Amino acid sequence: MAAPASADKPSIDSIIRNRHSTRSFRPDPVPRTLLQECLLLAQRGAASNSNIQNWRLTLATGPARERIVKALVHASQTSIPLAHPLPAQFRHHRDNLVQQLYGAQGYDVMGEEKRDARQEARMKNYSFFGAPVVGVISMDEELKEVDALAVGLFIQNFILLLSARSLGSCLQVSVTSYPEVLRREFNLPDGRKILCGIAIGWPGEERINSVVSEREAIERQVEFLEE
Ligand SMILES: Cc1cc2nc3c(=O)[nH]c(=O)nc-3n(C[C@H](O)[C@H](O)[C@H](O)COP(=O)(O)O)c2cc1C
Repeated sequence: MAAPASADKPSIDSIIRNRHSTRSFRPDPVPRTLLQECLLLAQRGAASNSNIQNWRLTLATGPARERIVKALVHASQTSIPLAHPLPAQFRHHRDNLVQQLYGAQGYDVMGEEKRDARQEARMKNYSFFGAPVVGVISMDEELKEVDALAVGLFIQNFILLLSARSLGSCLQVSVTSYPEVLRREFNLPDGRKILCGIAIGWPGEERINSVVSEREAIERQVEFLEE
């Protein structure tokens, strides 16, 4: 049964407008019941190819979270990450974002000579920016891109629902640079394709959390054909 609309609930427009990635968290725990509520609703609203509901999310808190962060930070200090190179035509987006984000963290990061500052800022990914809930998003490795799309639908629902409850989140491809660490520490069964990491928690006050990332003109992304 549909929940009644309530005056104190934000509208879906304002939830979508206000969601943004969080990259600094308070250490306070997130009640499991709150996560559970968001997961159930996210699942309810997510479409998937043949209704296979192929999203898999492994979340860790407490000592499990500490162990995972320790292993990832260690890996990031002692081994070369798997690269996720962007095709040249998309790189300017990342450069703009890096400037916006890391500038907000007080790092002067642009220019070749600022490699160390960029590296220091990037390393915060491996501790999930201090989030008390850390996760890995995966799906069966036999599935295809179209099924990854369904995982995205579930995850978008989930992060919007978190945001509507004042919880922050950040999706993190960066942590997938160490797939074996994720597989081992998150105890992923064989046959899982790792898609992304996720950090969840109560946002900190830091300036980086108020960065509003840019968007292109929608006309560059969507076409209407009439003839
Ligand atoms: C699949 C995916 C992977 C991402 N990986 C990272 C990451 O590794 N580190 C990070 O700081 N942000 C990461 N992000 C967040 C994006 O940078 C962010 O969504 C984008 O800049 C738009 O900003 P917004 O989420 O604040 O609207 C990722 C987002 C997505 C969807």
